Amino acid sequence: MTQAQAKYLKDYTAPRFTITHLDLSFTLEGKETQVVAKSQVVRLDSTATCLILDGDEMKILSVKINGEDVSYKQGLTNLSIDTQLDEFQLEIVTQLDPEANLSLEGLYMSDGAYCTQCEAEGFRRITYFLDRPDVLAIYTVRIEADKTAFPYLLSNGNPIEKGSLDGDRHFAKWHDPFPKPAYLFALVAGDFDLLEDEFITRSNRAVKLQVFVDKGNLNKAHHAIASLKKSMAWDESRFNLEYDLDIYMIVAVDFFNMGAMENKGLNVFNTKYVLADTSSATDEDYHGIEAVVGHEYFHNWTGNRVTCRDWFQLSLKEGLTVFRDQEFSSDLGSRAVNRIHAIKVIKNQQFAEDSGPMSHPIRPESVIEMNNFYTVTVYNKGAEVIRMLHTLLGEQKFQAGMQLYFQRHDGQAVTCDDFVAAMQDASGVDLVQFKLWYSQSGTPVVTVEEDYDEVNACYRLTIKQTTPESAEQKDKQALHIPFDLELLSGQGESMLSAVIDVKQASQEFIFNDITEKPVPSLLQNFSAPVKLVFDYSIEQLVHLMRFASSEVARWEASVTLVSQSIWDNVANLQLNQAMHVDPRVVDAYRGVLLSPSLDLALVAEIFTLPSVSALIEQAESVELDALGTARDYVAEEIATACEDELVTRYRELAGVDNAAARALKNTCLFLLQKVSDEYQEYAEDQYVQAANMTDSLGALQALNGEASSVRTRLMADYESKWKSTPLVMDKWLTLHATCGDDKCLETLVALTDHESFSYSNPNRVRSLVGAFAAGNLIQFHDIEGKGYDFLTDAIIKLNKVNPQVAARIITPLIQFKKFDSSRQAMMKASLERILGLPDLSKDLYEKVSKALGL
Ligand code: TRP
Ligand code: ZN
Repeated sequence: MTQAQAKYLKDYTAPRFTITHLDLSFTLEGKETQVVAKSQVVRLDSTATCLILDGDEMKILSVKINGEDVSYKQGLTNLSIDTQLDEFQLEIVTQLDPEANLSLEGLYMSDGAYCTQCEAEGFRRITYFLDRPDVLAIYTVRIEADKTAFPYLLSNGNPIEKGSLDGDRHFAKWHDPFPKPAYLFALVAGDFDLLEDEFITRSNRAVKLQVFVDKGNLNKAHHAIASLKKSMAWDESRFNLEYDLDIYMIVAVDFFNMGAMENKGLNVFNTKYVLADTSSATDEDYHGIEAVVGHEYFHNWTGNRVTCRDWFQLSLKEGLTVFRDQEFSSDLGSRAVNRIHAIKVIKNQQFAEDSGPMSHPIRPESVIEMNNFYTVTVYNKGAEVIRMLHTLLGEQKFQAGMQLYFQRHDGQAVTCDDFVAAMQDASGVDLVQFKLWYSQSGTPVVTVEEDYDEVNACYRLTIKQTTPESAEQKDKQALHIPFDLELLSGQGESMLSAVIDVKQASQEFIFNDITEKPVPSLLQNFSAPVKLVFDYSIEQLVHLMRFASSEVARWEASVTLVSQSIWDNVANLQLNQAMHVDPRVVDAYRGVLLSPSLDLALVAEIFTLPSVSALIEQAESVELDALGTARDYVAEEIATACEDELVTRYRELAGVDNAAARALKNTCLFLLQKVSDEYQEYAEDQYVQAANMTDSLGALQALNGEASSVRTRLMADYESKWKSTPLVMDKWLTLHATCGDDKCLETLVALTDHESFSYSNPNRVRSLVGAFAAGNLIQFHDIEGKGYDFLTDAIIKLNKVNPQVAARIITPLIQFKKFDSSRQAMMKASLERILGLPDLSKDLYEKVSKALGL
């Protein structure tokens, strides 16, 4: 594998040349698209005599320095030019074929429109350039294209000129006054419907807002633009940050590798995170749109104005921006429910990544393919690290740290160390030990023991931490862990609330004047991304579910309680004993359902039992069939015992028009299916009468546990109703992919030929193949290996077409270590099959080789 060379953080060197200005001129002509790039090059290191530019998959038409042709060497992924000059203009003309570009990186086509995706290293497919984030240039862009097919010609910054040309062609010119790295460049040319609005900043500047969507979708752009205005107002009020250009554009495209991209002034979005109306999008979709619009907007300061020195620092912008979007969602909606969602991502996905072959710290030390590091670790654990800083500093000092960070680094490309230094200097809080969170991978295990001394009214906690060694890192040190706890009395009163600093491998904490033995609520609000080990009794958990001040702690207690019950039953099955659920567990659940004061969305969260993947994360090894059986059993027991209350709640909530009520109503409907087939009628009625997609989909999800004639009928109805709306059909594909029916896999194989499916569109691939492998664990781990074959075949098809997506959906196949030996053998055989591909992409090579321990 000569192509698959790792790069190391420790090898970072400053650029020897930089480019201060770039004039780009695009002539968009299908397969013969031309790009003229005029770079103002400055030599930074006077000993450097060879300029080496990055470039990939382009035809070079000419290379000139100060107007004269020069000789150059073209390598596989670079271009070198010898030079003695300190400053010069470099002009390179390249030719590209965007129509043939299915990788969706660089310049490509989505449904007839030209668009670009340059992060992380896509710009080098547009022209030869210093494609690294610490080279920041001022861009001027001219775009020329056919007027009828491409009426809108967009790029970053402000429009400065436009006009007609001969032959029904036209052009537009854009200028972005803010220096930026190449990964933030964007171009879009196409025909769209346009929704416009305006935002007045707090210093009274009018900003034009534009959302471009495929023709016919104008009425689905309102929520996105409303979310954008909320984001702009929130960033002013909470972070003191104002928008800086006169125009902000969002373009929605259906062919997109990820969620969205924060290109300066011209965000490109996956349609999934823009288009919504109540008949076609669920409450969850609405929430996702608000979060992603916010996320990309917040990047304008955390990412664009201050950017990353190198790609190892990705969490500098992503962890921080995820933290910001989480806070935005929490300030606007339910803080507890948003927190629960974030905790689930860490526990169900990030912990798995961190104990698998791709384990890496939030600031990775070595990378083969950068696209493989847009991970739950860098993004979501990265956000947890920022959240811990926020907990340690408090809002005021945290914001002082942010201000200092911008004061010092506006317009620069910096490191995570620079960020922490600003936080430390502004707050006076010592963060030396805390910084280990950036360099140490793996999930710390925090074990707590309690001891109560009645005579002295003294409560003692012994807290120990260890981080297991991970694939790429053996020695682990003790971390600085902010540990949030509450002590509850037998009456359920709060006796003490505190965040303690756990810093040593083993540490004792003594609490005086504790007049009775308390029930401890530990690691409240998931105050650090660690695994907590504490031997909770059923009584204690039931007590926490009722009395913990924190709603998140109540939910956590319910998860622990029900998980314990499921694992007890796994043990029962293995010992050939009858399964059984403790009545106190059922009573606690019933109590939640009857509680008049709890937020309905929280009740829905509690009644959504931990997924199979969440349960797998709690164990060292799993017997999957027993786990599935035990989980079904416990769900059925709880549902059956709460049948009357579930029916009552379901009926009460039927007509209530808000998202929390719908969430609980659909959870009740789902659980009632476990009680009896009679409730299929409820689901059918709900589907037939549904006034919105949340209710339609809720009904179909409730019926998705097994095959039935009702399900078949409604799925067919949905298909005929929505067959020409791809995003809505994605939900249908996912229902098929996550169905509990044994025939699921046969259906999926057939669906790869369905007109609503295509390997070339990532949304379709994720909805069918991705959802199956990540969300239908029982069938994916089919004992004959058919699930693995299905995924592997898809990955092999995608290897050439879209390696980025191929390497994303492989995740469940490389996380095999908890499964039995025969499944592991089949999973490894699948990986060997991929490894044997003659033209294996770097993306897949990196993951497969690590998984196989090569
Ligand atoms: N920076 C983007 C975000 O976090 C995500 C992103 C990175 C991306 N690489 C990408 C999006 C490639 C699309 C394609 O919002
Ligand atoms: Zn981001």
